Amino acid sequence: MLTVRKMQPADVPAAAVIECSAPDPWNEKQLAEELQSDFSRNLVLCEQRDGVECILGLCSAQTAAGEATLNAITVDPAARGRGCGAVLLNALLESLAAEGVSEVYLEVRTQNAPAIALYEKTGFVRTGLRKRFYKNPPDDAVTMKKELPAAGG
Ligand SMILES: CC(C)(COP(=O)(O)OP(=O)(O)OC[C@H]1O[C@@H](n2cnc3c(N)ncnc32)[C@H](O)[C@@H]1OP(=O)(O)O)[C@@H](O)C(=O)NCCC(=O)NCCS
Repeated sequence: MLTVRKMQPADVPAAAVIECSAPDPWNEKQLAEELQSDFSRNLVLCEQRDGVECILGLCSAQTAAGEATLNAITVDPAARGRGCGAVLLNALLESLAAEGVSEVYLEVRTQNAPAIALYEKTGFVRTGLRKRFYKNPPDDAVTMKKELPAAGG
């Protein structure tokens, strides 16, 4: 069974290993710093295996004045393609809506078809293109936005 919960400091090493598979990964230090920020919302997706909790994915968003930016979402490569990313992202969007966030923004590499497909499936719409936004390898960024329903609505 998949469950989503807040990321804890003890999750950082496992989360950092998963992050290594992302195009622009965060390291342990960056993840730990996110947990220190009052404006950061960080979730992990877990699965019980023989009574042991395994972390399969993580996501992170920064909030400000009723808006949020999705900064990271990464699923363990071995667990991709079975709905984990969608579960994680929907859980994050639900919790952001519950705290009154009305708009979520993100940037994604134009070459990152799986992520773009996940975002479009989750209701994000394209708002623009930032030329040469990424390095290593160079790429443009697609900018996307999703409006969230008002809390309680
Ligand atoms: C993007 C990512 C989080 C998706 O996680 P996932 O668990 O594989 O995604 P899901 O299985 O929940 O798939 C949800 C939807 O995403 C899309 N999707 C996922 N993988 C895809 C692929 N390889 N090709 C095309 N679309 C894909 C599909 O629309 C899918 O819905 P469907 O299964 O009904 O077709 C995962 O590929 C990942 O960790 N990538 C590396 C990190 C990254 O690039 N993060 C985004 C940075 S902006």
